[in-house]
Amino acid sequence: METTLIILKPDAVQRGLMGRIISRFEDKGLQIIGCKLMKISEQLAATHYAAHKNRPFYNGLVQFMTSSPVLVMAVRGVGAIAISRSMMGATFGSKAEGGTIRGDFGVSNSFNLIHGSDSPEAAEKELGLFFNDGEVLDYQRAIEGWVYDISGGDPE
Ligand code: RTP
Ligand code: MG
Repeated sequence: METTLIILKPDAVQRGLMGRIISRFEDKGLQIIGCKLMKISEQLAATHYAAHKNRPFYNGLVQFMTSSPVLVMAVRGVGAIAISRSMMGATFGSKAEGGTIRGDFGVSNSFNLIHGSDSPEAAEKELGLFFNDGEVLDYQRAIEGWVYDISGGDPE
């Protein structure tokens, strides 16, 4: 099982798309084990996007991410990181394929609705940045045996 950090960016919150985007993760069978609305500080945005510090879009990105509240989620499942990234679609809304979140809900390149961790290392680091102790909950779903084949012991 993997857990990934998903952020519904300020444009998703302002445009009233939270419910529809969350539904896609629930519909897929992924489990939401943490969820909160928050305002990202400049410092947190800078830490989260440190890898992009020297890119031309960096200042605009930090400005965008701190401009209005976001919804952060911890999302768990087998292969949750790659599955979430494929559900999100290509980075730019103008290029993202239909059927993906960015492809279906947006046309902008910079305002692209959603963030998802891109590796297990990034997920662990980002979950620690955005969630405090006790905010990510380890709970069993009654439906688990129908979401996954667990006859072999582990969810498949
Ligand atoms: P994210 O980190 O937000 O999940 O998105 P990503 O992996 O698909 O894209 P990444 O290359 O990590 O870029 C981070 C965010 O910066 C903004 N961006 N703007 N205008 C531009 O050229 C440009 N390039 C990137 C986007 O908000 C992107 O999600
Ligand atoms: Mg990225």
